[in-house]
Amino acid sequence: MNVLGIETSCDETGVAIYAGDGGLLAHQLYSQVALHAEFGGVVPELASRDHLRKLVPLIRATLEQAQMGQEDIQGIAYTAGPGLAGALLAGASVARSLAWTWKLPVVGVHHMEGHLLAPMLEDHPPAFPFVALLVSGGHTMLVRVEGVGSYQLLGESLDDAAGEAFDKTAKLLELGYPGGPAIASLAEKGDPGRFRFPRPMVDRPGLDFSFSGLKTYTLTTMQKESAGLEGEALARLKADIARAFEDAVVDTLAIKCRRAMEQTGSGTLVLAGGVAANQRLRQRMDEEMGRLGARAYYPRLEFCTDNGAMIAHAGWQRLNAGEANRELAFHVNPRWS
Ligand code: KG4
Ligand code: ZN
Repeated sequence: MNVLGIETSCDETGVAIYAGDGGLLAHQLYSQVALHAEFGGVVPELASRDHLRKLVPLIRATLEQAQMGQEDIQGIAYTAGPGLAGALLAGASVARSLAWTWKLPVVGVHHMEGHLLAPMLEDHPPAFPFVALLVSGGHTMLVRVEGVGSYQLLGESLDDAAGEAFDKTAKLLELGYPGGPAIASLAEKGDPGRFRFPRPMVDRPGLDFSFSGLKTYTLTTMQKESAGLEGEALARLKADIARAFEDAVVDTLAIKCRRAMEQTGSGTLVLAGGVAANQRLRQRMDEEMGRLGARAYYPRLEFCTDNGAMIAHAGWQRLNAGEANRELAFHVNPRWS
């Protein structure tokens, strides 16, 4: 079954075709980052309009890349939530209209399920069961995964998501949007020994997270240390803070993952979502899992952040298991839990 997948939950328009044993046949991505950059974050109404502009050309480009026509597609999947309501509606409307016109089964996919299963698109996919750490702009969750659709939440963030903390901290340091990659590259130049930021909630039992305090800690450190600084000295301070912040997030995530692996006895950890693109996090997780005799799996870098491939794949899994939305009416679920 060749499944056309459509992702429009936030600021990336993603379209892909996934074919089961045939793997990923094509994928196209259009990022709106430049459109939102001047506003320092995603502007929902601009996002919806841009998805509408880009969807049809991207679907055409994806079919062309796969050297396929509409007759080669047997199913359609789209992100039904969580995400921005207008942005989700853009993708859902196009997906449902195509499915009705082409008389194909269609399924609305949970965005985080797309992220969670994304490492299965790689050549050496993880085998079920596994523990997954989902770290994106909207979520930080540890999940025990028995199989497709069988998920047990082990822990989650009680306030900001890890990606959100990166974005807000980057804003404080005036690094622009999106914050994750900006902090990561500035941290490269930072001195790891200058500041030590707290590791929130690691001294408490359990697998929940809290990242909002780190943002406040960054703000007070910045206020305290930056008085009278400018030029090179200010740039150095920001780099040292970026490094201390990144180290604190990476360390906290690593400690909780180790705990989750010990608690569940699992030997397989999956990392997914935008923050899983962070190199220092990947390196640290590999070391940590190595010590436990376990192994960490990641999606390739471009499939950590939002993309159509993960939605085509998750949709394929669902459609292949016989699931489909059969009624004509549809809705999106911006706060799908
Ligand atoms: O999964 P994603 O593309 O969108 C959501 O579903 O939220 O994740 C985006 C998040 C943003 O917060 C971004 O700052 C963060 O992932 N991110 C990173 C890196 N690349 C993206 N955070 C840390 N290091 C990175 N290299
Ligand atoms: Zn995402």
